[in-house]
Amino acid sequence: MKILVVGGGGREHALVWRLKQSPSEPEVICAPGNAGIAREVPCFDVAATDLESLAELARKQKVDLTVVGPEAPLCAGIVDLFQARGLKIFGPSKAAALLEGDKAFAKEIMSRHSIPTAGHRTFSELNAALIWARETVDYPLVVKAAGLAAGKGVVICRNPEEAEEAIRSMMEDQAFGSAGQRIVIEDFLVGEEASIIALTDGKTILVMESSQDHKRAFDGDEGPNTGGMGAYSPAPVVTEKLQSQIEREVLVPIVHALKHEGRPFSGVLYAGLMMTQKGPRVLEFNVRFGDPECEALMMRLRGDLAQALALCAEGRLDEADLSWSEEPAVTVVVAQEGYPGAVGSGRPIWGLDEVEESDDLRIFHAATRRQGSDWIASGGRVLAVTALGTDLAGARDKAYAAIDRLRFPGSFCRRDIGHRALGR
Ligand SMILES: Nc1ncnc2c1ncn2[C@@H]1O[C@H](COP(=O)(O)OP(=O)(O)O)[C@@H](O)[C@H]1O
Ligand SMILES: [Mg+2]
Repeated sequence: MKILVVGGGGREHALVWRLKQSPSEPEVICAPGNAGIAREVPCFDVAATDLESLAELARKQKVDLTVVGPEAPLCAGIVDLFQARGLKIFGPSKAAALLEGDKAFAKEIMSRHSIPTAGHRTFSELNAALIWARETVDYPLVVKAAGLAAGKGVVICRNPEEAEEAIRSMMEDQAFGSAGQRIVIEDFLVGEEASIIALTDGKTILVMESSQDHKRAFDGDEGPNTGGMGAYSPAPVVTEKLQSQIEREVLVPIVHALKHEGRPFSGVLYAGLMMTQKGPRVLEFNVRFGDPECEALMMRLRGDLAQALALCAEGRLDEADLSWSEEPAVTVVVAQEGYPGAVGSGRPIWGLDEVEESDDLRIFHAATRRQGSDWIASGGRVLAVTALGTDLAGARDKAYAAIDRLRFPGSFCRRDIGHRALGR
């Protein structure tokens, strides 16, 4: 089997690495990939959003299965296009990907099917949103751009002034382009977050092990929201009881709801959840693996991932067989200073080749390129250093020990990944 992985971040590096190790021994290629991925498999210089060229690449390379990492091509309809061309692809259709692509739609379908989530209102008019923000007394509240905003379109507002600023930046100044034409304003939930990621072909739901992301840029969960600064799996906040409650109250009903509404879902279904005193509440759905949760999960995954994703794409997920290492995994993201804002370019990373990688320690590349024999940072999040350990502290120490061997001036990472689980 020949597999094309679409994307070029740490998530895709982890997917490529794990897919390659599948007992069915698939041949793996990637587009566009990055310098770290290119060390493992052939990479093709086609952007993840250039759907036509990707289909052409899959045809020319005689690809048997395409696996899509990021949300943008899914929301743009890559699955529909490939299927129309008779190319097998793992992921949701454009209609089903709306679950991530439009937070207003996600809230509505959850309301229609009584799936637990924060109370909300949707606004498409600036003045109506401003009036509501001024008159409500329930602060803090959360203002969200409805469309895709690369993890930067959510603002937690402590008072009406902050809410007005957030609303104006989205609806008036179009800080997120058309993604902020409509906004969702929702109640602020208190609790600990976790990610539950499942594979589904619309009939079978194969729930993976739990994980937890670290959204804020700095230690102690300070600073702006990012795409994610680190992750670990499993997340002890998700007890067995909660896990089955989430399956029953969230995953099964949303898969059913999407089918019922003519948008059958196939692919990765990701529920971002807040564990509140009243039980789990959905913060959002994603329609692909989280990054960096994916890196931690891939480190622990056992069994034949290539076969499982192919079976899922064929509607035969019930035949798939995956299992998990008992050992916890930790991922620490190394980013360039300035991230999640603008970052410099061309900074060298020294020492990468001196770190000895193993099945217990992988340096997944998120944004690197090569210049001669040098490794150069080429984006905000640069590396996702991932380790497996006999316990969480051991995994964390292994990841940080690897990071400490790198010489990467102008970079930073959080030093407290895993603090919630370790503080229990
Ligand atoms: N209702 C809420 N109450 C409290 N925190 C929230 C709420 N909604 C979102 N957040 C916080 O904002 C982060 C980003 O929100 P999310 O809905 O996941 O959007 P995205 O990942 O697209 O930026 C969440 O991980 C969570 O930390
Ligand atoms: Mg999120």
